Amino acid sequence: MKKLILSAAACLMLFSCQNEQNESTNEPATAATQRKCASQDVLEAQLKADPTLAIRMNEIEAFTQKAMLTKRLVNGKIEIPVVVNVLYRTTAENISATQIQSQIDVLNKDFNALNSDYNSVPALFSGVKANVGITFVLDQVVRKSTTKTSWGTNDAMKKTSSGGLAPISPTTKLNLWVCTIGGGILGYAQFPGGSSATDGVAIDSKYVGLSGTANAPYNLGRTATHEVGHWMNLRHIWGDANCGSDLVSDTPTHNTSNFGVPAYPHYSTCTGTPVEMTMNYMDYTDDRGMYMFSTGQKSRMSAIFLSGGSRASFRL
Ligand code: ARG
Ligand code: ZN
Ligand code: CA
Repeated sequence: MKKLILSAAACLMLFSCQNEQNESTNEPATAATQRKCASQDVLEAQLKADPTLAIRMNEIEAFTQKAMLTKRLVNGKIEIPVVVNVLYRTTAENISATQIQSQIDVLNKDFNALNSDYNSVPALFSGVKANVGITFVLDQVVRKSTTKTSWGTNDAMKKTSSGGLAPISPTTKLNLWVCTIGGGILGYAQFPGGSSATDGVAIDSKYVGLSGTANAPYNLGRTATHEVGHWMNLRHIWGDANCGSDLVSDTPTHNTSNFGVPAYPHYSTCTGTPVEMTMNYMDYTDDRGMYMFSTGQKSRMSAIFLSGGSRASFRL
């Protein structure tokens, strides 16, 4: 006779919907108003009838515990730990913890349709504006003093051999490098498929988070939103070519990148002369001019996290 691995106490912890409080008065429920739930009785009967059920339930419990411990699943959605690598020469480049957290907050708003300008999306695109449903949590901040005045775009900031900082756990954590890039570059990302040694996103220190009035018009943290879009496999909305394709069907074809805050509607001269989605995060407008991802972009981003996807290791 085999012993059941799942104890009765564990079963009781799984389903404890008895003896609830009365919601309206917050008083202990009386016998007459007490709600009962038969789940536990039914479970116990099933466990008696089928000993293999306990084994399956144990496996589910082990998975659940691991998922909760690693904190990658919040409300069934993916949560990405973020490592911020700060490389500074001047005190201004050594941005504050507050500045860093403001960037994490912007990412969480923009990727969850919680940005205050989400309702500014024109009616024409309201059917395709998307809540991506991916959250970010600050994991750790690493700081390093350097003598470099600018780091360029050849990944020098990601290598200790060139005075930079190597990524921490890049297959399970999103690494951000905050430093002066130079050459008018706000930031750049590595697409899925690249080397894990250089995986992540570089953002110029002047354009991280809510950087006040000093660094307008790139002071709303949207450089990171745009770059993390690339890191999750999104192309520029104009497809990096005249009337090019971004491989997303619900975004209109754009002639080229847009700058500033274009007046709506801005018509494309590409096939079909569609109204351009200039307010998409994957265009080049000012931070206050970009405030949506599309449903098609959401699908592209979500796909890389599925099992077999290039960033599936971020799930658990
Ligand atoms: N120029 C950057 C890139 O190459 C990002 C532009 C982001 N735009 C912004 N408004 N912050 O991807
Ligand atoms: Zn870009
Ligand atoms: Ca498109």
